[in-house]
Formats: sequence, C-alpha cells, structure tokens
Amino acid sequence: MTSWTDLKDRAAAVATRRIAELFEKDNRAPEFSAEFGPFLFDYSKTNIDEGTRDLLLALAEGSGLAAKRAAMFGGAKINETEGRAVLHTALRNLDGSVLVDGQDVMPEVRATHARMAQFARAVRAGGYTGQGGKITDVVNIGIGGSDLGPAMATLALAPYHDGPRCHFVSNVDGAHIHDVLKGLDPATTLVIVASKTFTTIETMTNAATAKAWMARDVADPGAQFAALSTAADLTAAFGIDASRVFGFADWVGGRYSMWGPIGLSLMIAIGPEDFDAMLKGAAAMDAHFREAPFAQNLPVLLALVGIWHNQGCGHATRAVLPYDQRLARLPAYLQQLEMESNGKRVSMDGADLAVDSGPVVWGEPGTNGQHAFYQLIHQGTRIVPCEFLLAAEGHEPDLAHQHLLLVANCLAQSEALMRGRSLEEATAIMTQKGLSGAELERQARHRVFPGSRPSTTLLYPKLTPEVFGGIIALYEHRVFVEGVILGINSFDQWGVELGKELALALAPVLEGRSEGAGKDGSTRALASRIRALRGM
Ligand code: F6P
Repeated sequence: MTSWTDLKDRAAAVATRRIAELFEKDNRAPEFSAEFGPFLFDYSKTNIDEGTRDLLLALAEGSGLAAKRAAMFGGAKINETEGRAVLHTALRNLDGSVLVDGQDVMPEVRATHARMAQFARAVRAGGYTGQGGKITDVVNIGIGGSDLGPAMATLALAPYHDGPRCHFVSNVDGAHIHDVLKGLDPATTLVIVASKTFTTIETMTNAATAKAWMARDVADPGAQFAALSTAADLTAAFGIDASRVFGFADWVGGRYSMWGPIGLSLMIAIGPEDFDAMLKGAAAMDAHFREAPFAQNLPVLLALVGIWHNQGCGHATRAVLPYDQRLARLPAYLQQLEMESNGKRVSMDGADLAVDSGPVVWGEPGTNGQHAFYQLIHQGTRIVPCEFLLAAEGHEPDLAHQHLLLVANCLAQSEALMRGRSLEEATAIMTQKGLSGAELERQARHRVFPGSRPSTTLLYPKLTPEVFGGIIALYEHRVFVEGVILGINSFDQWGVELGKELALALAPVLEGRSEGAGKDGSTRALASRIRALRGM
C-alpha cells in the first residue's frame, strides 16, 4: 500500500528529471494516455513514469475506492455529516432501480424528468404562454450549483440552443438582476427560481425583486414563475403552482444537480432531445467509471494526476484551460465542483488531514489566457500544472481555418511548457539578433523558459451534448476519487456557513440600528465609513 510519504519521496526523487527525457522512450504518448468513447486523455507530458503510476494506482487501491464507488452508486449514505446518499448519477441513468432507505427512487426521478420535458416542450412551442403571449425569455434565478451548472451548460451548447433566450441571475448585487431584467418584457418572460433549499438569501431576494417587477405589468405574476427545489412547502408559500414545481431529493448535491430539475432552463434552451443526449453521454461516463480497470479509467487517472501534482509534488493550484470558447464558464463551474467538494481540512472521521486539501482551480479559455496569465505559467517561480481541453473540430465549418489555429495554439502551449528554452538557445537567438557581451547575457536570461512544466490534454471530436455530458461526469467522478483518496467527505460544504451567519448579523450594523458590539475594530470602522458614504 502506498503512503503519503512514499508519494512525496517519489516526487522528491524525480523533481529534477526533465519531462522531455521521458520521451526518449518511443511509445510514451500511447502508454501514458487512456481512451474511452470520444475521449483521449494524454498525461504523457507530466513527470509520471511507470513506477510513479504504479505507486499512484496502489494509492487508489489502498483507499478502498472500489467499495466506496459501489456504495455511492448503490445509494448508501456516504455523505456522512449530512446523513445523505449521493445519487446525482441516478438523474442520468434513467433505467433500472436504486434503493434509498429500502425505497426505489427511480419511478419518481423518471416522472419528474417526464414532467420537465413536457413543460419544456410547452414553453418552446407556445403551449404554455406568458400573459403577453409566447415565452421569449427565461430568467433562471439561483446561485452556486443552482446557477453555475445550467449557465455553463447553456453557453457550452449554444449551437443547439433553439428555444427562448436564457438569462442567469445569481449575485445579490442588485446590479445583476437590474441589468438582466432591463429590456425584458415581463409579459413574455418565464422566471425560474432554482434553489434546492428555497432559503438561500441571494436567490430569495432576487426572486422577490423579479416578482415585484413582474407584478408591475402582469395580472398574475405567480403564473409566470416555476420553481426547482426540494422544499415543496416553501415554493407553495412563494405562490408557485405545484404544476410548475419540479422537485428533487436531498441526495442530489447542489453542485451535482444540473442533470435534473436544476437543468430546466437548459432543457428549455436546447430541447429535451439534446438534453437527453447530454444525459446519455454522462451515463456512458458513469458506466466507464464503474467498469474500467483503474489504469484505464479516465476519472481515476485524472484524479491520480491531480494527487501527484498537488499532494505529491506540492503544486497548490491547477489551471483548467479549455481551447473551446463555449467552455468559457467551465473553470468557474469546476471551482465550485472541486473547491466546495475537496476544500476540507479534516477527514471523514474528524481528524486533521495529513496532506494538503484539493487544489485551487482556476483558468480561462485559450487563447485569451495566453495573452494574460500564461507569462507566469511559463516563467514564474511556481509550477502550475495545466489541464488543456481541446475539440478537434468546431461547429462552424466556414471558420475551420480559425479552429485549426486554435488547435495549433493549444498544442504549442503544452509543447512549450514541457520543452522550455535553455540559456544556450536563448543566447543563440539573441546573438543572431546582433547582441553581444553583457547586454547579450542580460537579455538572454529574460528569454529563458525553464520548461519541464506538466500538462495534460483531454481531446474530443466536437462539443456535442453527448460529449459535453461525458466531460462534466468525468470531472464529477474525478473529484469523488480525489476525495476518497484524501479520506474526506466531498459532499458537504460546512465552510460556507460562517460567512452567511455573520452577514445576517451585520445587517443591523449597516442600517445603523446597532453599534456592532462584539465586532472587531476593522469591521466596525468599515461599517461606520459605509454608513457615512451612504449618508446615513
Ligand atoms: O452556499 C453554498 C451552497 O449551499 C451551494 O452548495 C449551493 O449550490 C448553493 O449554496 C445554492 O443553494 P440552494 O440551491 O439551496 O439555493
């Protein structure tokens, strides 16, 4: 069984070895790649060799991953701190049965899915209308998992978007809802309030604002609202008819919820058929995750590469770099998925973690990132493992030449990160440009790229609904595997609670109803300056 010390020792032992050296062996690329369906995952441009891979695979075996995976898919309550099962996979594997507390949950999942499809069709075709006629705009009000998934997916699947326009409001900053509602016609707008709990302050505040906006023009504002929630009592109290409430169970985590009711805005945008194609792609990834041996299992391999770089080599961040413009919101989505899931400092049993928690995840689509932060990735003092995502083809046949340029840039970046440029090479280039002496030496040093910087590439043919579903399921399972290996609960999020509580307690201080006794000096001084700036 591999220990964390074994992994760190291994990382230290190979730290100065150049990744490029590993390519002296001819077949490294296929040997350090894995394929499934439309996907090729290439992790050959990392410092992982056979010995390291064996260590990592043993780490996965020793973590009890196979049993924990079976427990998750089987409906066991693996979210122990909340006493809940974790069954987002049931939302996309619509056949069969899954028991939770001895009850088959699938008939209800299928019934809700059918109701969603019926409602989505009616909205798209005009069978359900606003009080001014056919729905032209849908506004999804939600935050975190009730926003990031559908918003990211609607952008990703823009070529399939043939329903009404979709807008997403999340921030409690009034500017957000103001700018979205401005220009919309209340009489032809459907507002979807997406909130698992139906208590989230940002969402409920925005929902109330939207209802007041609707009420100014429409006789029965509640009739143009739908709700996606586990809390049927609260949706009824808000005035939304049960026929437009789409419920789900507590075993769907917020950040894992776009496959069910929380995906309603997406379903209205692209239609139930393309939505189901997305589910099919995700279900195929689920089956692969359950069945493929660890050494060929994409989610397991992504997780092990992540563990190697973060807990093994000590690289604290991971850049996600989609060379696919429509995945522009993927890094933001993955920030919640990964950091809310695996940003934990204690293991399942409450003991301190022996290693660092999950990485800081960030990124932007290529090539935009190249003209912004790649400087640091290439020449900064810290190493940032990079994950490239690349579509071989775009959806715009008449712009194929642009897509080829995009692809060339992606491959060039991973090559440059690995190869780098030595001082000798930089000196030769600057000598050719006519420099010599001390100036040559000085200028050449600025043009050195240390290289040997690790990256992986996930290649797929084209961002279809099916491929997209597979990508997101891949990342979900990767987060699960990392969490199992770290021994943490990836499905709770206690770390978001304290700030929420303190924000509520600060309202009276900001309104001037309380002096803020018990608050620290900085918070009190800032509150008092804000009151003054607001003329209070
Ligand atoms: O505050 C974090 C969180 O609970 C997320 O996990 C969740 O996705 C988000 O808030 C929104 O919650 P809800 O869907 O209940 O409004």
